[in-house]
Amino acid sequence: MTAKIIDGKIIAAELRGRVADEVARVKREHQLVPGLAVVLVGNDPASEVYVRSKHTQTQAAGMASFEHKLPADVSQSDLLALVARLNRDPAVHGILVQLPLPKGLNTEAVINAIDPAKDVDGLHPNNAGRLAGGFEALSPCTPLGCIILTKSVHASLEGMNAIVIGRSNLVGRPLVQLLLNENATVTIAHSRSRDLPGLVKRADLVYAAVGKPEMVRGDWLKPGATVIDVGINRIPKDDGKTRLVGDVAYQEALAVAGAITPVPGGVGQMTVACLLVNTLRAACAITGLPKPAV
Ligand code: GUN
Repeated sequence: MTAKIIDGKIIAAELRGRVADEVARVKREHQLVPGLAVVLVGNDPASEVYVRSKHTQTQAAGMASFEHKLPADVSQSDLLALVARLNRDPAVHGILVQLPLPKGLNTEAVINAIDPAKDVDGLHPNNAGRLAGGFEALSPCTPLGCIILTKSVHASLEGMNAIVIGRSNLVGRPLVQLLLNENATVTIAHSRSRDLPGLVKRADLVYAAVGKPEMVRGDWLKPGATVIDVGINRIPKDDGKTRLVGDVAYQEALAVAGAITPVPGGVGQMTVACLLVNTLRAACAITGLPKPAV
């Protein structure tokens, strides 16, 4: 038996379509145009690709997109001044500062400066704390995408054994909180965990978010498990080009898992779609409108 492939492209396109419908409705009924500002510091090639994709997809959903590109040697105070200006700008409902920031800039101070109501990355301590407390919050986009992909396979995650491998602020930690909110039983594993294969073996849901190419092997998996691969690793090919692989050994896992996300075409597709969802939600909340239907 081979695993069902969870098609992030199709699921993300469907979600973007629902966002676009809601954006059209709030424009028509409330003259509200949700706006997203993305700040890119420096010229990391991977970040440039992400930022371009955010810009294109934001406009395609009918929202306003504001791109701010700053040189890698921008000062901390100039970057904070831009964030302060975006906080005050009524046309901007979502602010995303692309990470990682170049060396020399204080990431924590920049995140703390973002108005929590506009923090569509869900990284501000207000939002992270609210999520951890089980309160309503803007939640990080990649974990939100992981939950949507999981729910395309399982209508309810209640009582399921989930393992999250990786404990980053952007993915692992918030994903744990979202899974708890879904009533899953969650194990948090990381680089110091003992017997990772044994921990993974018990899991019905496996989330790999470590950034180590093909680290999770097929024979670690419980037969029938749902595998969500957050990894995007570029590895060199013989011809000098690179290919993308996840944190899971895909071909091995296909033979054991019940369902699995491919790389590319899985989680990566969902992140921007969820960013659009967060921007729409933030715009409605800031302007006092009822929650949108997505
Ligand atoms: N870099 C890679 N993923 C992300 C993300 O979701 N948000 C931000 N701000 N930076 C990232």
